[in-house]
Amino acid sequence: MKANIVLLPGDGIGPEIVAEARAVLDAVAAEFGHALSYETHLIGGSAIDAHGTALPEVTLEACRRADAILLGAVGGPKWDDPAAKVRPEQGLLGLRKAMGLYANLRPVKPHPRLLSASPLRPERLEGVDLLVVRELTGGLYFGQPRLRETRADGTTRAVDTLEYTDAEIRRVVALAFRLASGRRKKVTSVDKANVLESSRLWRQVASAVGKDHPAIALEHQLVDSCAMRLLTHAREFDVIVTENLFGDILTDEAAVLAGSLGMLPSASLGDGKCGLYEPIHGSAPDLAGKGIANPLGTILSAAMLLRHSLELPAEAAAIERAAFRAVDEGVLSADLGGRASTREMGEAVRARLGSHA
Ligand code: NAD
Ligand code: IPM
Ligand code: MN
Repeated sequence: MKANIVLLPGDGIGPEIVAEARAVLDAVAAEFGHALSYETHLIGGSAIDAHGTALPEVTLEACRRADAILLGAVGGPKWDDPAAKVRPEQGLLGLRKAMGLYANLRPVKPHPRLLSASPLRPERLEGVDLLVVRELTGGLYFGQPRLRETRADGTTRAVDTLEYTDAEIRRVVALAFRLASGRRKKVTSVDKANVLESSRLWRQVASAVGKDHPAIALEHQLVDSCAMRLLTHAREFDVIVTENLFGDILTDEAAVLAGSLGMLPSASLGDGKCGLYEPIHGSAPDLAGKGIANPLGTILSAAMLLRHSLELPAEAAAIERAAFRAVDEGVLSADLGGRASTREMGEAVRARLGSHA
């Protein structure tokens, strides 16, 4: 098949990890006889430096035409002035919103070899296989009003708003149920319904969606206790569905289960075929330019791209198997307790792509 992929390397370690993921995609395409073409565009801090905006029109237009988008990360200390009008993160948020990518899938399945890379006891990690579905285009990230103002008396106030419509909740929860039906048939809807009105609506809508899926168990959990249970009883979760910011925080926490933030991939999906694929971590300014960042989160995101946007499940599985084997055979970057470079990790995955079964 033919497909047009937009690459958005972004900032910090972004270019290093996207280069490895692209090389893996090329190797898979060669092996399976597909023609992948790429366009590379600016987003985030590098786009601000070149064009004064974090999401240039040419980047967004290319994404709208693409079959899928692979992103590294945006942001860094260079653009971190709290008074700045333009910020790298606006590029990513704007892209998600403009493309209608309302569901962010973040799977967490610790590799057995990495149980010792986690500070948690191995018996808490064995058998963990969960999927967080994070709402991505609403909630606290996008609610209005959103402002900062200095009043006549000299005091300054800032406002963010946690806003959802029932329709926004319904579509993402419904997707979580569909995904659960192909898994262990359990959905945990996470909210703060004891305090927040938006969460009471969330809970009501989730229950209503649950009635349409009698074969799937639905439980509601408050986000604070969920944060604890993710570390003490992670095995009990199958699909977790939650508000934008709750999902952002819970998934960095869940990365502790997988041994490193560098391991976790994600897919951001809407109603169309085109998705945005990116590791869940950021631009890791402390590692940028050193060639030592873990590229597996991005490589596994490329596998999700093949599965969800290009409908190539065998090719996706080939990448996942190769990445699994590389780790199994001890090819580990510094965050996993090893010495492999970013390039060596990528090469190790590519070298194992042909090994079937
Ligand atoms: P971060 O995720 O960049 O880094 C947190 C820690 O994890 C650091 O110690 C880092 O070295 C480590 N880490 C992250 N990715 C790694 C990898 N692939 N391999 C090995 N170690 C890795 O979070 P932060 O430091 O809080 O944020 C830095 C910048 O990244 C900020 O500007 C933030 O806005 C941005 N950010 C962007 C995204 C994104 O583009 N999707 C996500 C999160 C943060
Ligand atoms: C993520 C990041 C982004 C988010 C930032 C960079 C806007 O933390 O993708 O998890 O908060 O969604
Ligand atoms: Mn995040």
